[in-house]
Amino acid sequence: MSIFARTLGALAGAAVVAGCATVAAGSDAGQSALALLKQDFRSKGPATLERVTERDEAQQLCSQYPQERPAEVATRIESAQQKTIRPPADGNYLGSWQEGEKIAQNGRGMQSSDAIGGINGGNCYACHQITKQEISFGNIGPSLYQYGKLRGNSEEIVKYTWGKIYNAQAYTACSNMPRFGHNGILSEAQIKDVVALLLDPASPVNQ
Ligand code: HEC
Repeated sequence: MSIFARTLGALAGAAVVAGCATVAAGSDAGQSALALLKQDFRSKGPATLERVTERDEAQQLCSQYPQERPAEVATRIESAQQKTIRPPADGNYLGSWQEGEKIAQNGRGMQSSDAIGGINGGNCYACHQITKQEISFGNIGPSLYQYGKLRGNSEEIVKYTWGKIYNAQAYTACSNMPRFGHNGILSEAQIKDVVALLLDPASPVNQ
């Protein structure tokens, strides 16, 4: 063991002891896991250690209440996350559904083998059915097939769809869906394109 690693180990140990004094007994395991991560894992490319070890208030509350959470905790998370949503600068919410389909199909980005600052995909098919043409999809999220046909594209629906993709937790505390805009996974232009994929009447989603 190098002196450097030894020093980190000692610091991590100190953090665990300090943590135990202030946190509930149930979260000791969480504190030890965090200390281990900090001790043994390294950032590589865009896959940074901080993405795991530095949690915002929503993530901390979701870890504290992993299954069910009191209504006031959920409301607190959702209203704080609502404030992060930035509407498109030019007021135009819809881009190109053809580009949106490519983004939904693309699962690349933010992995250790990707370039820092590279363009990410949305990987939407990993969790959602979207078009009838794509038969390979996950089902952690609800099917989005005919999303626009079923809901129409009123201003309310357009803004909800934008906000949901921008920051899913603004509507569902502790959602499994990534916070694409809030966390800078997708750009404003890319979010416009996936909104068009869901809402454009010409999109295969709405046939
Ligand atoms: C890791 C899984 C995952 C990924 C990836 C994901 N989602 Fe989701 N999504 C969910 C889950 C789970 C829900 C339901 C819970 C919720 O509403 O947050 C959801 C809900 C939604 C909803 C709300 C549906 C409704 O009935 O109101 C929309 C719209 C949506 N996702 C769009 C997208 C788009 C577009 C992408 C890609 C840019 C995407 N999702 C990527 C998991 C995911």
